[in-house]
Amino acid sequence: MRTLLIAGNWKMNMGPKETADFFAQLDDAAQKEITGVEAAVCPPFASLSSAFSSRKAGSAVKIGAQNVHFEDNGAYTGEISTTMLNELGCDFVILGHSERREYFSEDDAIINKKVKKALADGITPIVCVGEVLSERKENRHFDVVKEQIAGSLAGLSEADVKKIVIAYEPVWAIGTGETASPEQAQEMHAFIRKELVGLVGQSTADTVRILYGGSMKPGNADELLRQPDVDGGLIGGASLKPSDFSQLVSIAAGQE
Ligand code: PGA
Repeated sequence: MRTLLIAGNWKMNMGPKETADFFAQLDDAAQKEITGVEAAVCPPFASLSSAFSSRKAGSAVKIGAQNVHFEDNGAYTGEISTTMLNELGCDFVILGHSERREYFSEDDAIINKKVKKALADGITPIVCVGEVLSERKENRHFDVVKEQIAGSLAGLSEADVKKIVIAYEPVWAIGTGETASPEQAQEMHAFIRKELVGLVGQSTADTVRILYGGSMKPGNADELLRQPDVDGGLIGGASLKPSDFSQLVSIAAGQE
């Protein structure tokens, strides 16, 4: 019912040259249109042009950005607009990643403005939520994620919510090698879907893809992707290697 999405978050890795090498090495199977699976990579801004020019003609791999500003243009030194991403041809933009929240003080109100701007300009936001370790230990993870969902999606119409992708990324699992167990992931994904039902009703909530992120790799992807509410992955480290990325796409393709 929901097309799985395997999205690579390259973070501050992979310059233009490495980006071109990635596409040169990515095998053809991972680039072709596969029913039920969508693949994307999100390089840093400086490598987006290289990604578009080095992606093979006819490749089904989509390209996204890792952030965007909420204004059209103007005096915002260091920022990038949706117009620029559209001019390049970006399909996705990652918003509210925990590293943006932690190191760049992005809060749900800012993320909400960015989500609205991306939607208004036709770019699919991948909205990230997730608790830190202390919040899970204190059993506050559901409350934290509930608040992030409510804040970052505030004021969105049903039609808007239909267009977004959500990524649940428990911060304690990001880049640590420690993954949420399939049960922990499913439990939170089902909770997120229930929150969406409260916002926009069951039929719309059922269409929204909820990705898991946090040390997903070829060795653990299958059991995570088998969970009924896990609709793909937002993958950091393992998405940098063409062979791992390609394996993740084929594991997703092997799901029912
Ligand atoms: P990781 O990162 O796969 O390296 O844990 C995931 C992310 O932060 O999106």
